[in-house]
Amino acid sequence: MNKKETFYITTAIHYANAGPHMGHAYEGVITDIIARYKRNNGFPTFFLSGTDEHGDKILRAAQKENVAPQIFVNNNAQKFKDLYKKMELSNDDFIRTSDSEKHWPGVIKWWKNAEKKGDIYKAVYKGKYCVGCESFITEKELMDGKCPYHNKEPEIIEEENFFFKLSKYAPQIQQLIQSDEIKIIPNARKKEMITILEEGIKDISCSRPERDIIWGIPVPNNSGQTIYVWTEALINYISALGYGSKKEKLMEQFWPANVHIVGKDIFRFHAIVWPAMLLSAGLPMPKTILVHGFVTSQGRKMSKSIGNVVDPEEYIDAYGADAFRYFVAREISPFEDGDFTKEKFIETYNANLANGLGNLVSRTLKMAEQYFDGKIERRLDIDTPLQITRETLTGMETLKDYSIPYIVQKNILPDYVAKMDKYDIQNAADTIWRLVGLLDGYITDYEPFKLIKEDKNKTENILWNVLYGIYWITQMVAPILPDTAEKITKALGVTVSNTVSNNEPISFQTECLDKPLFVRVQTEK
Ligand code: MSP
Repeated sequence: MNKKETFYITTAIHYANAGPHMGHAYEGVITDIIARYKRNNGFPTFFLSGTDEHGDKILRAAQKENVAPQIFVNNNAQKFKDLYKKMELSNDDFIRTSDSEKHWPGVIKWWKNAEKKGDIYKAVYKGKYCVGCESFITEKELMDGKCPYHNKEPEIIEEENFFFKLSKYAPQIQQLIQSDEIKIIPNARKKEMITILEEGIKDISCSRPERDIIWGIPVPNNSGQTIYVWTEALINYISALGYGSKKEKLMEQFWPANVHIVGKDIFRFHAIVWPAMLLSAGLPMPKTILVHGFVTSQGRKMSKSIGNVVDPEEYIDAYGADAFRYFVAREISPFEDGDFTKEKFIETYNANLANGLGNLVSRTLKMAEQYFDGKIERRLDIDTPLQITRETLTGMETLKDYSIPYIVQKNILPDYVAKMDKYDIQNAADTIWRLVGLLDGYITDYEPFKLIKEDKNKTENILWNVLYGIYWITQMVAPILPDTAEKITKALGVTVSNTVSNNEPISFQTECLDKPLFVRVQTEK
């Protein structure tokens, strides 16, 4: 029997050495948008996020504050959960690596299995270690002797620990990536991985001496070693599904993951180490790894010393979760670095939310209410196409094709779906706002506010068409702006045809909104 097609999506688990920052908020929102899109399209969906709570970096941060590490991570994990709620993330679970009941059994199961397979051996390691990355670092990766991500010189480490036979699996992983069985997007990142694999892969350390790293999961049956934080962190993606527990039901239902969403700094772990760990465990490969860029501020990496750190909560508190989510979706590419500035935030908020979508919805609802008591029927006897001069749309052949339903069904929706299916949220959002622009233009074409005096039936048909377009906007925009979509849908009072093949809107019984969807922000000239 075929497994019902499900959808499993994850963020990276975020270090609990401090509360969340803009990068975490960004990753959470783009993951949530994809999860909601799939869920809204009927896929049983599981969206996982969580916190990475072990290792040297966290222990040092806790010690600095003079707090027991468990209390320290409890506090920080709560900050992540609070922010997720504020951002309206719809995650189905939140895994914490210090959770010895939920996370540890999967780690132990993986370790014992790898050991049995002969994939783990003991050796002496000597090399450089970046505590910020919680990772060994090669000479080649250093810039001016420093880690490029943390701008710090690594520490020299010489110790005996366990190694995982990564090199054994490297050729197979190269083939899996090359053939897109593990699809890495964007393509430039795939090429980067292939180059790294071609240069040769060495085995990696997978434990640290307990005398140095006490805050972590002990290596089974071996007093004296702690499992390396990255090794156990990666296992979160399956421990959250019950791997290693008595109930592996979620594992059967959702593994392999459809998409791991990770930043460019950690995608090697996900594209090489994680697949090797899964091969060792005899588990199927994740289907896609989406590698996103970094959110910068005024074109530079956010840093306390530069003073350009953007706090996501500030924006959510001032403008609402949807406004923040909008910015992340439309203004930052999911595949490259993107800049976050207050000026840009306000400019696009005003243009596209307050004036664009907000204004279109409120003025249409007002006209419907004023002229028709909100009850709007389609007038099939009247033709009111978009004026052909307004925009040349691809795929449109005849004048009749410029009716609003035709444009929505034949042009806008397929375009949106194609982009969302490629996780290209930014361009999918552009498509939605293209429809906002077309509907604005349609109102300008026909001026229903004047036409009502001459031709009531035609005006009703025009408003029906605009409401039809708005209905489809809510359907498309719901994963990005869940709150706004719900408010608009409610105000539309839409009746939808319930035949299987056709969930098209038929008629509307609209209500005006009691508050504007987005209040325009006054800016100084
Ligand atoms: N704990 C590891 C991941 C383990 S996954 C098994 C980690 N944590 S992190 O907190 O440093 O980063 C978590 C995620 O946030 C990563 O995907 C990282 O790329 C992302 N970001 C951190 N800073 C960022 C920006 N400034 N912009 C966008 N995302 C960035 O790495």
